[in-house]
Amino acid sequence: MSSKILVVDDKQIMRDSVAATLQRAGFAVVTASDGKAALKQAGKHRPAAVITDLRMPEMDGLSLLTELRAVDPSLPVVLMTAYGTVSDAVAAMQQGAFDFVQKPFEGDQLVMVVRRAVQHRELTNENEALRTGGARTDAVPSLVGKSTEMRRLAQQIHQVANSSGTVLIAGESGTGKEVVARTIHAHSPRRDNVMLCVNCAALSSSLLESELFGHERGAFTGADQLRKGRFELADGGTLLLDEISEISPTLQAKLLRVLQEGQFERVGSSTTLSVDVRVLATTNRDLRFSVASGQFRQDLYYRLNVLPIELPPLRDRTEDIPLLAEHFLATVAMREGREPRRLEPQAVALLKEYPWPGNVRELQNICERASVLTRSGLIKPDLIQPWLQTPGPSAPTTPVPVSQGHAPTPIGHAAPPHGQELPPRVAEGPVRALEEVERAQIMYTLNYFSGNRQKTAKALGIGVRTLGLKLKKWKEQQLIAQSA
Ligand SMILES: Nc1ncnc2c1ncn2[C@@H]1O[C@H](COP(=O)(O)OP(=O)(O)OP(=O)(O)O)[C@@H](O)[C@H]1O
Ligand SMILES: [Mg+2]
Repeated sequence: MSSKILVVDDKQIMRDSVAATLQRAGFAVVTASDGKAALKQAGKHRPAAVITDLRMPEMDGLSLLTELRAVDPSLPVVLMTAYGTVSDAVAAMQQGAFDFVQKPFEGDQLVMVVRRAVQHRELTNENEALRTGGARTDAVPSLVGKSTEMRRLAQQIHQVANSSGTVLIAGESGTGKEVVARTIHAHSPRRDNVMLCVNCAALSSSLLESELFGHERGAFTGADQLRKGRFELADGGTLLLDEISEISPTLQAKLLRVLQEGQFERVGSSTTLSVDVRVLATTNRDLRFSVASGQFRQDLYYRLNVLPIELPPLRDRTEDIPLLAEHFLATVAMREGREPRRLEPQAVALLKEYPWPGNVRELQNICERASVLTRSGLIKPDLIQPWLQTPGPSAPTTPVPVSQGHAPTPIGHAAPPHGQELPPRVAEGPVRALEEVERAQIMYTLNYFSGNRQKTAKALGIGVRTLGLKLKKWKEQQLIAQSA
């Protein structure tokens, strides 16, 4: 059965175009023209992934994202953002979006992101699997890296896997905390039992309580049947509590009890239940500060921190970058049944210099995009450079309107540039960077269209005259540089 995708956009032309592209790629599609309708459609159709516009009247894409994730934290949501709004895209990722695509984008790019989202959904949907037929062993992603830090990590994982103590995995977003948790479970004596995961940041306190501990029928309005919580469902296995720093004081107390005694009650029940669950927790904050500021119970912190694991940011293990990139390119190639794309040495150098605020996840996204967008088997530095921007009031990311095959008609290109309010420039530095990005983008596109200025200007959304003036200026600058 084909996976169902929910497409949300207030503009019909955009909805139709995205829907048609996805249908051609074999997905079933349902659409909605605003956030409210989208929530209804999501409830009715239970899509495998959602792709939504960011800017919409009334409920915008970010609010929709929050609402959807509150109901179903494992539902991947992809945001469509406008040209030049890199800060919006970053905000979306920080709020838990699966990925974003910048308009105008290619059909290929869209299909690739949606395929990944669906695959991710399949991998993380353990609970469904459990409810409909028992435990299943998920494919454990491999932990790639040869740096001293990664070797030390492998050792630590090996040491904690056999224990039943609680592990607190700390690290910035995208450093691989979940992969580490899955690896620990896969090497533990519980490996044949289920591992479940709850994102503590995605649910309100009361929803989280019922998600963790379950509820009796009639426990609150809407509780029309008994529901087991994750602690009960994970009995004999492992429970991953993601973003543990976000739980409320009431739940902190309940959690402490279940960690100490293995006991709890369902919401609305006085019967005490006992379970044998190993808890792994992740945090991207330093919990010691949360303890110091009174937001997190000290006793719970000590209880969780029995076996601490600290994941270093990617910028502190640059020697892993080429290996990871190769790994991600090979994974895409295997999925698509072709030879892996390769990175030009200068492209590798660029990747090694970048500080990676989104860590390994950001590197993975960039490798996957580059893999689809490159026209040859080789990824050149000018393809990836526009994506390597640190968030903040600096240069915006430029979309890359190129793909393989016939000349592309980027989706969303005709849309009014409602997101074109570029971030303010800062006094120094970024002005040059912006021009370099622009130049790389223009040269790449021009090359793609074999020097045809009309097509290049159209794809980039600028006038042919403007393009001509820019090319003339760069040519003159080059001549000056050569004669100097
Ligand atoms: N060492 C690694 N080797 C291979 N893939 C990795 C590695 N580290 C991370 N990844 C990949 O990077 C992505 C992000 O990893 P993961 O979800 O584990 O990060 P995280 O720290 O849990 O992030 P967040 O804090 O945002 O939840 C995943 O797709 C994961 O498979
Ligand atoms: Mg995570």
